[in-house]
Amino acid sequence: MSAILVTGGAGYVGSHACKVLSAAGFLPVAFDNLSTGHRWAVQWGPLEHGDLADVEAVRRAIRRHRVEAVMHFAASSDVGESMRQPGPYFRNNVGGTLNLLEAMADCGIRRLVLSSTCASYGLPQVIPIREDHPQQPINPYGETKLAIERMLRWWDQVHGISWLALRYFNAAGADPDGEIGEAHEPETHLIPIAVQAALGQRENLGIFGTDYPTPDGTAVRDYVHVTDLAEAHLAGLRHLFAGGGSLACNLGTGRGHSVREVVRAVERVTRTALPIRLMARRPGDPPQLVAEPRLASELLGWRPRLSDLDTIVATACGWHSKSRPTRRQAAHSIQMK
Ligand code: UFG
Repeated sequence: MSAILVTGGAGYVGSHACKVLSAAGFLPVAFDNLSTGHRWAVQWGPLEHGDLADVEAVRRAIRRHRVEAVMHFAASSDVGESMRQPGPYFRNNVGGTLNLLEAMADCGIRRLVLSSTCASYGLPQVIPIREDHPQQPINPYGETKLAIERMLRWWDQVHGISWLALRYFNAAGADPDGEIGEAHEPETHLIPIAVQAALGQRENLGIFGTDYPTPDGTAVRDYVHVTDLAEAHLAGLRHLFAGGGSLACNLGTGRGHSVREVVRAVERVTRTALPIRLMARRPGDPPQLVAEPRLASELLGWRPRLSDLDTIVATACGWHSKSRPTRRQAAHSIQMK
């Protein structure tokens, strides 16, 4: 069974990728420092509890499990926090990736699928956004991912590491089987907050900005189901194993939904009137982010299966309506294995 090192494999998207890898016959080896990831999310292979700051730990994990390729999710990813503390973002994201690439080159590992982001584009000049759109990030988080993409070009040229940078739009939803899901602390993302408000787990949802130049005045995003993202990573890995060349590729649906449309979807799915508060715009939020998704379809044969808004919201509701003790029990049972 081919072992794949999944950095950030205890995190939100990384753990869903582990599940998809395992179903496809790979052994996902989660490499995670558990700073934001969760032990209970590692269910489909071993956990290497380590930090990318420790290059020797990365080399050890690669050698111990005879890793054949890497999926790289481990990163600090809160845009707002990156505006307040850019230092840790550059250290963790750029410095961590540098160590990972050095360890890969040392061990002769030549394939990498990178979790990248539409935040590397900055303010969109044209919608939908194509991969050749200028990359001018407006926050340190996006800047670190752009720096990583640029590093990869040199590791390809010098060390022959082929890579795919998958630029996600808005990751959302949860595993349809309810085994894993989104658990950020604190939570800042729209869909989990809206779902938690509908389930009575928080008082209300604040809508950030109602005066955007969009059809209903609220900001528009391209939401992609996290399992669809995970499947795109698997397709990307297969592309690289088949000898495919290095490339950056959007992961989105090409359809945008406004904040109010998300609110209506949550109300529809939960049959609850959502308590909302209208608020000022959140600094740094572009009015609209929508992907041109054609390249992923042509290159990887990837088509989102679960990314219609109601499925995203329903799976998120399924996950968030599980009580916290259930998740703690899950963690306990994994530790007992
Ligand atoms: N929003 C609200 N209320 C909330 C939270 C969010 O109205 O309580 C709005 C935001 O203002 C935004 C939309 O809902 O217009 C989506 O916000 P999210 O925080 O869910 O997601 P973002 O679009 O801000 O961020 C996502 C990813 C980032 C990535 C970014 C690219 O989470 O990692 O897209 O812009 F960098």
